[in-house]
Amino acid sequence: MCGIVGYVGLHQAADVLLQGLSKLEYRGYDSAGIAVHQNGILTVKTKGRLADLKEKIEKTDTCLFGKIGIGHTRWATHGAPSDVNSHPHSSENGRISVVHNGIIENYMQLKEMLEQKGRKFVSETDTEIVAQLFDDCYNGDMVETMINVISQIRGAYALGVLCSEHPDQIVAVRKDSPLLVGLSEKENYIASDIPALLEYTRDYYLLEDNEIVLLKQDGVTLFDLNKNEIKKEVFHVTWDVSAAEKDGYDYFMMKEIVEQPEGLRKTIFPRLCDNGIQLDHISLTEEFVKNINRIHIVACGSAWHAAIVGKYVIEKISRIPVEVDLASEFRYRDPILNKNDLCIIVSQSGETADTLAALREAKKHGVRVLSIVNVVGSSIARESDDVLYTWAGPEIAVATTKGYSTQLSVMYLLAVYFGKAKQEISLQEQNQYITDLKKVPEDVKSLLELEERIKVLAKQYAQSKDVFVIGRGIDHAAAMEASLKLKEISYIHSEAYAAGELKHGTISLIEDGTLVVAIATQQTLFEKLVSNIKEVKARGANVVAITPRGNEAIEKVADEVFYIPEGNELFSASSTVVPMQLLAYYIAVERGCDVDKPRNLAKSVTVE
Ligand code: M6R
Repeated sequence: MCGIVGYVGLHQAADVLLQGLSKLEYRGYDSAGIAVHQNGILTVKTKGRLADLKEKIEKTDTCLFGKIGIGHTRWATHGAPSDVNSHPHSSENGRISVVHNGIIENYMQLKEMLEQKGRKFVSETDTEIVAQLFDDCYNGDMVETMINVISQIRGAYALGVLCSEHPDQIVAVRKDSPLLVGLSEKENYIASDIPALLEYTRDYYLLEDNEIVLLKQDGVTLFDLNKNEIKKEVFHVTWDVSAAEKDGYDYFMMKEIVEQPEGLRKTIFPRLCDNGIQLDHISLTEEFVKNINRIHIVACGSAWHAAIVGKYVIEKISRIPVEVDLASEFRYRDPILNKNDLCIIVSQSGETADTLAALREAKKHGVRVLSIVNVVGSSIARESDDVLYTWAGPEIAVATTKGYSTQLSVMYLLAVYFGKAKQEISLQEQNQYITDLKKVPEDVKSLLELEERIKVLAKQYAQSKDVFVIGRGIDHAAAMEASLKLKEISYIHSEAYAAGELKHGTISLIEDGTLVVAIATQQTLFEKLVSNIKEVKARGANVVAITPRGNEAIEKVADEVFYIPEGNELFSASSTVVPMQLLAYYIAVERGCDVDKPRNLAKSVTVE
């Protein structure tokens, strides 16, 4: 949901800003812009992608030589993508320039107040209000003005502000939207996310809400809302720059699909020890686990799909009741929470606005929060009582793959850990689960070999109007993720259905040639699933089945079968998702879609 960069240093700011934005386009890509201070503020912005912005700079022969500036890549909320709605936004007199990620909720009242003072607005955005308000409050001191501004605005924001009267300063702040500060010798930066700055620095300040940053070439000062200086620890990033590069793949999504076995190994193996499962430094004692009344798993999108798989696996192995909620629902539904409950928050980015709000809701009720997060040091990780990281490495493609599959693996680890702590499983059973878990990365790796067959299938179904994915139990949860992958990157309408539910209405949509993917890994439900396949076949569907080896009987009813390795069926979602990720990918490629940046989406949803 919008990417922000700011730079002050020794080099041409425009180059650094454009380079930084190129790593943030995953956050939004419907318009882009930069503002550079060079004898006043010069702004270039445009509807479209970063490439369009670069072209505009070249075509208009805009000479950008300033060494301080701010940049933005947008995912539209207020006002359609257009040149005028693009960021940076300026005050009417051009003194102030602002980039913003988030939503200013009281922008209408503020706009009215500023209009009454005679200020004219040119865009439909909430951000222009911040630029005008900043100018209205401006007292010559950037930090004091920022404190005044944020006392008047409501909502979520990461803001970077440039002022024509301060050619050496950027002032920035965050509240409920991510922002960090990059630190270097005689050069300093702000950005929404680490990959934007990784080629310049590995040292960062991870900002908390309402911390104000004054960025200058020779230093960074942090202030609280009373303008007291604050000290902060430097966060040092150890990952490799190449982790956030495409490495010769056409799209990040394919690179990230291929990286899944490695991410799974890094997430699972260090947590296995002689006695069973050791969950990093988290402080859930056996005593606590024994007394858990109920687990609430809360997430959005694919992380929510991982949560549903988690419910099946945790309930089955540990017999602890689990409720799963969409974060956007949980936060407003006045959930019944008990002090002996545990809330598990799942998020790849660790910044999803609804998920963060759900975490705060749980904490408000005194419930212990354990989060499963990929981005180290993200807001959700920092605000949780305990964190289990998914070591997938940076995920750039908007459609998650390795993020989701590593989340699943943490669910499995937790289920076995809880099961053993509650003595629902014996030592022997625990050891068998661990043996099965160790096999997961290899199984996923072997499924990548299906690529060539799936390419052929993708050609055949690339022009489908509708695709249905059916399954029962865990397979239904896996079907939801499979269906989301397909629709978000290929724009084909797709629905996931609990196979037994089809005949209660949806089966009327099945026509000659409709593609139905049937996931059948749960042995006790296998025959029932076969009956469901026959029902859709009888109405003309083409059925592709995904099932473990040993279930060759399915070839009698399905048109095409993809086999996954035999293994513990509780962990099957890790395998069944792989052919579906590949199918979605190749259908999207076949249809000429921009796989990494699907229309209307953004990687990190930092607005409600
Ligand atoms: O960063 P998060 O895991 O909190 O993100 C949640 C969803 O926005 C995310 O999973 C989204 O559904 C993906 N585009 C799915 O591929």
